[in-house]
Amino acid sequence: MKISIVGCGYVGTVTGVCFADFGHDIIFYDIDGKKLDLLARGEAPIYEPSLDGLIRKNREHLVTTPDLTAAVRDTDITFVCVGTPSRQDGSIDLAYILSAGATIGEGLQEMPGFHSIIVKSTVFPGSTEGPVRSVIEQESGKQAFVDFGLGSNPEFLREGNAVRDFCEPDRIVLGTGDTRTARMLGNLYASFTCPKIETSIRTAEMIKYASNAFLATKISFANEIGNLAKKLGIDSEEVFAGVGLDSRIGPAFFRTGIGFGGSCFPKDVRALIAGAGGHGEDLHVLHAALRVNEDQPLRLFRLIQARIPDLKGRRIGILGLAFKPDTDDVRESRAIPIVRALLDAGADIIAYDPLAMENFAALFPQIDYAPSARAVLSADAVLITTEWEEFEHLDYSGATVIDGRRIAAASRTAEIYEGVCW
Ligand code: UDX
Repeated sequence: MKISIVGCGYVGTVTGVCFADFGHDIIFYDIDGKKLDLLARGEAPIYEPSLDGLIRKNREHLVTTPDLTAAVRDTDITFVCVGTPSRQDGSIDLAYILSAGATIGEGLQEMPGFHSIIVKSTVFPGSTEGPVRSVIEQESGKQAFVDFGLGSNPEFLREGNAVRDFCEPDRIVLGTGDTRTARMLGNLYASFTCPKIETSIRTAEMIKYASNAFLATKISFANEIGNLAKKLGIDSEEVFAGVGLDSRIGPAFFRTGIGFGGSCFPKDVRALIAGAGGHGEDLHVLHAALRVNEDQPLRLFRLIQARIPDLKGRRIGILGLAFKPDTDDVRESRAIPIVRALLDAGADIIAYDPLAMENFAALFPQIDYAPSARAVLSADAVLITTEWEEFEHLDYSGATVIDGRRIAAASRTAEIYEGVCW
C-alpha cells in the first residue's frame, strides 16, 4: 500500500518506518524541513532503539517530500501524526492537525480515487468527526465517508520500546465510519495476530484517552498507597507484587516513586479533564491522580531537606534527567520540578543522564553536567530521578543517596539510603 505520513516526530517516524518494514511504500511530510533532511539521509529525527537500522534496511521504501498535497495524491491513505499540545487551561490545541487537514483537503481536490485520512494523533473524542472532518470537507469540496474516508487508529507506543510496541501490539484499535476505510485498514494490519477492535471513530479516540488516564491513575494510586506503606514500615514493592497477581488487576505500572512524566500521560489526563469540563463532567479521580503526581517529586525534595535543612551552596547530584530510561526526552520529566525546587533553595546542582543532558541543558543551562554517573557521587547528596539501568549497580558507598525510582540495588541494605514511597 502507498502511505503518506504527516508529522515526522515520534509517532510518525516509528509508524512510517515500521510500515515500510512490512513492505509498504511511505512518503514522509513535515513542516520542519530539518526532519525531512535527516530522514532523507537515512537518519531518524528522534532517538529510539533500533530505528536507525530499520531506516537503513528499508530505504527504498522511504521517501520524503515538502509537498503534502502531492503526497496525498500519490498515496492511498494518509496517517496524521502531528503533535496535539496543551493549551494554558490543559485543553488540547488542534492547530497543527487542522492545518494539516486543510492541506490534505487541497490534495484531495483533484483526486479521482478514494483516499482515507487516519488520525493517529491523540485527540479528544469527537475531534476527527468534528473539526478535522469540517476543515478537510471545506478545502476539498468533497464529502467525508462518501468521497474520502476518515478514521482513528490510536497508537500505544512507549518511548524507548516503540518499534517492538508497533510490531507486537497488545491490540489494534480501528475506528472508522465507512466500509472502504475499514477494509483498507483491515488489509494494512492483516498480518498482525493480536486482537483488533473495530469501533466508531469517537470510541477509538476515547479508548486511547481512557487507556492513558487509567495507567496514570494506576501509578498515582500505587504512589499514594506507597506513601502510607512507608509510614507503616511496609515495602510497597511487596504489596504491589501481591496486588498485581490478581488477574483482574495485573502487575504492570505499579512502580512507585516520583511519578509519571513524558509527552502523553500528563498532557492526555489534563486534556481529558479539560474536555470533560466542557461537557459539564468533573473527572474527580483524574484530578486526584494529577495532584498525587505533582506532589511525588516534592516528597523527594522534602526528604533531602530533612537531611540538609540549609541547601544554600550545598552540592546536590541528580542522576537521571529523561522522563524515563532509554529516551532523551525530558518533557514533563520529574527531574524538572526537583531541580527547580533545589535551585530555589540555593543548591548547587551537578547532573548526569546517559542521553538527555543536551535537552535538559536547553531548560536549565545554569546547572553543571557531569561526564559520568560516578562524577556525581561525590556531591553532598545524590538523588536518583530516572530508572536507568546503569544507576542500579553503581558503587554508592559513602554517598548519601535518595532514590526516587527505587532502583539502586544498594537500596535494600545501605543505611545511607532512603527512597520515596518505600
Ligand atoms: C505512554 C503509554 O504507555 C503509551 O501507551 C502511550 O501511547 C504514550 O504514553 P510513554 O510516555 O512513552 O508511553 O512512557 P511509559 O513507559 O508509559 O511511562 C510513563 C511514565 O510513567 C514514566 O515517567 C515512567 O517513569 C512512569 N512510570 C511507569 C512509573 O512511575 N511507574 C510505573 O509503574 C510505570
